[in-house]
Amino acid sequence: MVKAKKVNSKTSATLNEIERIKTGIVGLDKLVKGGFIKGSTMLISGGTGVGKSIFSMQYLWEGLQSGESCVYVTMEETAEDLRQDALVFGWDFEEYEKKGKFKFVEKNILEDTNFEFFDIDKMKASRIVIDSISLLSFVIEDKSSMRGRLKELIKSLKERNLTTLLVSESMDEERLSVLGIEEFVADGVIILKYTSVGAQAGRLLFIRKMRRTNHSEKLHPIKIGTQGIRILSV
Ligand SMILES: Nc1ncnc2c1ncn2[C@@H]1O[C@H](COP(=O)(O)OP(=O)(O)OP(=O)(O)O)[C@@H](O)[C@H]1O
Ligand SMILES: [Mg+2]
Repeated sequence: MVKAKKVNSKTSATLNEIERIKTGIVGLDKLVKGGFIKGSTMLISGGTGVGKSIFSMQYLWEGLQSGESCVYVTMEETAEDLRQDALVFGWDFEEYEKKGKFKFVEKNILEDTNFEFFDIDKMKASRIVIDSISLLSFVIEDKSSMRGRLKELIKSLKERNLTTLLVSESMDEERLSVLGIEEFVADGVIILKYTSVGAQAGRLLFIRKMRRTNHSEKLHPIKIGTQGIRILSV
């Protein structure tokens, strides 16, 4: 009896020690025990136009509001397009770029095998978004080589204690990622989707996996409004 008590108190102490950071998505923190685990790698997966880039910008904007430095690696859209998209929600990234707290990196990390960590280190960035890693599949045909590259990248990001969002395009709900391996190298997976059928027609968010977290297992309706993405029912 006494022994069990000891184990329990130890377990809860360990759980309390997990440092979490606010996601910035209104209503999401409550679904994931307070936020993303600091230093973890999250995969945001979904089809086109579901809000993956808005989610990513909102996540970094939250970091900037808490005084953190953040980096957005964009491989598909231009930095200027993203700056303009963000302004619609009142997120003025340029202001933070000028202060050296934020950086858009227009770089294909696939062509550049030695991904440049210099800026990230100099800025002491704590949050990073890579939008998107799906292009990897077109460049690297060999799955095991891609898994290796991704693992290497994640390792380098974790060594820097960066909390990372990997954006992944997925066409099919059963497949979370283009090659079906990204989800295994990530600590957590969040799915965004759009459905036009059934009682839950509209935009939805689903937490498919999050290590060390007793997370919601429901499908949550979301809305993209003037303040960005918000969970409608918590
Ligand atoms: N101000 C807004 N209010 C409501 N909805 C918006 C607003 N701005 C954009 N959206 C919606 O968000 C979508 C774009 O979101 P976002 O660019 O984040 O999607 P994505 O998943 O990154 O898409 P892609 O696969 O093309 O990169 C638009 O297609 C539109 O439906
Ligand atoms: Mg996008």
